[in-house]
Amino acid sequence: MVTRRPSRRFLGLLALVVAGIAFALRWRRNPSPCPYSQRRWIDLPRPIITRSRVRDLLAPRPGERVLEVGPGTGYYTLPVARSLEPDGTLHAVDVQPAMVDHLRTRLRDADRRNVAPIVGDARTLPYPDDSFDAAYLVLVLGEIPDQERALAELRRVLKPGGRLVVGELFPDPHFVRAGALRRRGERQGFRFEDRDGTSIGYVGRLSVPT
Ligand SMILES: C[S@@+](CC[C@H](N)C(=O)[O-])C[C@H]1O[C@@H](n2cnc3c(N)ncnc32)[C@H](O)[C@@H]1O
Repeated sequence: MVTRRPSRRFLGLLALVVAGIAFALRWRRNPSPCPYSQRRWIDLPRPIITRSRVRDLLAPRPGERVLEVGPGTGYYTLPVARSLEPDGTLHAVDVQPAMVDHLRTRLRDADRRNVAPIVGDARTLPYPDDSFDAAYLVLVLGEIPDQERALAELRRVLKPGGRLVVGELFPDPHFVRAGALRRRGERQGFRFEDRDGTSIGYVGRLSVPT
């Protein structure tokens, strides 16, 4: 019987896949913000966690005060800010100064003035209690080393009845399953209301009981 050796090309490819999986698992165990140098990935159009799905579940209304945590380069920022016109404001807080600078340039280019971006950490939000009608974060929760602390902060800054929308998509190495979001959210006093999507990508809505 003749046994054929795997080609060098195949072995090279296999090594690359194994290294990629090992890197993703390590990154998942040690969460950290997606580096600014990787911003091209987050600018790509995405399935399931579309802008319209996020906006539909968030239901932003004119005049509201809304918070976006981890806006990155602003994939969701502009359409949500538009829905708050004429007198509503979108506050955006990101832990990486380079992301905030990028977002500021994007807002300036679009002449969008009702967004207030700042540098800050989701675990210690620089806003008073009960100060937002709604908040959202997409592809962010899993990057935060202490997710429950961030959820507790979101609960603190949201008004009673406030909405929280979370978007997640596999194969993001920091993907948070809907069940885990529900458990962590409920432990921090949120009510889990709705989920739109599938098991590998979804937008979920929680709310602060009145
Ligand atoms: C994968 S990007 C997603 C960006 C954007 N939400 C989107 O969907 O295009 C994650 C963003 O969350 C930010 N981030 C990570 N940890 C954070 C934290 N503890 N507080 C605030 N922002 C954080 C990162 O700096 C990065 O901009």
